[in-house]
Amino acid sequence: MGTSRMFHIFVILGSAFMILLIIIYWDDVGASHLYLHTPVSPGPKIPHPPPQHQRPQSSRSPSFLSDIDAFVNQFLEPGTGEPTDPVPAEASNQSEKAEERYVPRREWKIHLTPVAPELRERQERRRRLLQEMCANDSLVFPGKNRSFDDIPNKELDHLIVDDRHGIIYCYVPKVACSNWKRIMIILSESLLQDGVPQRDPVAIPRDLVHNSSMHFTFNKFWKRYGKFAKHLMKVKLKKYTKFLFVRDPFVRLISAYRNKFEMRNEDFYRRFAQVMLRRYANQPTPPASVDEAFAVGIHPTFPNFIQYLLDPQTEKEMPFNEHWRQVYRLCHPCQIDYDFVGHLETAEEDAEHLLRQLRVDNVVEFPTSNRNLTASSWEGDWFSTVPVEARRELYKLYEPDFRLFGYDRPDSLLNE
Ligand SMILES: *[C@@H]1O[C@H](CO)[C@@H](O)[C@H](O)[C@H]1NC(C)=O
Ligand SMILES: *[C@@H]1O[C@H](CO)[C@@H](O)[C@H](O)[C@H]1NC(C)=O
Ligand SMILES: *[C@@H]1O[C@H](CO)[C@@H](O)[C@H](O)[C@H]1NC(C)=O
Ligand SMILES: *[C@@H]1O[C@H](CO)[C@@H](O)[C@H](O)[C@H]1NC(C)=O
Ligand SMILES: *[C@@H]1O[C@H](CO)[C@@H](O)[C@H](O)[C@H]1NC(C)=O
Repeated sequence: MGTSRMFHIFVILGSAFMILLIIIYWDDVGASHLYLHTPVSPGPKIPHPPPQHQRPQSSRSPSFLSDIDAFVNQFLEPGTGEPTDPVPAEASNQSEKAEERYVPRREWKIHLTPVAPELRERQERRRRLLQEMCANDSLVFPGKNRSFDDIPNKELDHLIVDDRHGIIYCYVPKVACSNWKRIMIILSESLLQDGVPQRDPVAIPRDLVHNSSMHFTFNKFWKRYGKFAKHLMKVKLKKYTKFLFVRDPFVRLISAYRNKFEMRNEDFYRRFAQVMLRRYANQPTPPASVDEAFAVGIHPTFPNFIQYLLDPQTEKEMPFNEHWRQVYRLCHPCQIDYDFVGHLETAEEDAEHLLRQLRVDNVVEFPTSNRNLTASSWEGDWFSTVPVEARRELYKLYEPDFRLFGYDRPDSLLNE
């Protein structure tokens, strides 16, 4: 009696062990073959492009971990009920949805010619500089040493995620961000035009571009996934292609001033211009609205704006507005390993290179800008009315952005 019981247990354990072996074997041998040989979709058979960034393929042994990643990825794929991803009734064809879920990124373009070497080297240089500066103790700024886990969720609100293509964009206001936001809207298909996704970036109205409901940002993760949010963010940060665009920090400030205080902007007038006028321009009772102020020709001067930035009181009241907040505070470049660093000064070449690297240059084109961009050559004129002492303090405030992204210290402004 006892031995037969033992025998039963032994058989059951043995079977379980065999099943386990089969599972492990299947994962190691099956995964790659199965993947290519069973067409899930009836669509055109495009061979799977290699993963975006060819991280060195570590040995096959942690296949269990990569399976977990693949498992997690399934849930990360789109079309699984994202509220920002409305599907029109007629397009919600079950077979199409399934296809999309299991064969994501099928619209990836495959390039047969390599990227121009100078463009590739430019990116390598910028990325190497970032890594060096993050490791270099001579550059110190708040939050530099913290880990990604220590970044508060609300500081992740500038990272826009596109799960369809595996892209993360950190937007920096005053650095072509409207156009890149337009591209993110198109790629994530979050805007529908007559039931089909909008494909033309230029056709997206300005107020929609900046409406946060159009974008899936990392801080919204928190609401959806709760305590798993940070883990999922890290998985995406590891797998997705991350990019940002920057420009000369002082020129960015001039651009912000021109855009927000030289043009009528009621919101910025009430929130910031009135404060500057009261504090730095001897206007104890500034005009009540921006129209009244413009009618009598009153607006804060550029030196007033700089004074506002340097005033310790400003940050005590609230963090810098995103239009003049430092890039290192918006995008956390020492915690997030960006794959692509674009410069506004080389925007067109960088945009072309980036869209190609993302393999979406067949989906969307970067809109050419014909606006009157703030030029670096005006810097001298703009700062001529700012005292040299204030310029030096301002440089200290923005020094991390200068050094992280390779912009030269503006010696001619600081050494007068
Ligand atoms: C759904 O897709 C299948 C196959 O692609 C097609 O035959 C069918 O007509 C589609 N149905 C609708 C409602 O579009
Ligand atoms: C850190 O940066 C300074 C100034 O850019 C440079 O002189 C120094 O060599 C760097 N240190 C390291 C370890 O790279
Ligand atoms: C960051 O770490 C470096 C040494 O690794 C240290 O010199 C520096 O003071 C630290 N900065 C902050 C803000 O903690
Ligand atoms: C943003 O878009 C949503 C829905 O499209 C709309 O309800 C909301 O009013 C918009 N917000 C702004 C500030 O325009
Ligand atoms: C651009 O703006 C600057 C200053 O606002 C002005 O001097 C210049 O003439 C403008 N250029 C064009 C092409 O509009």
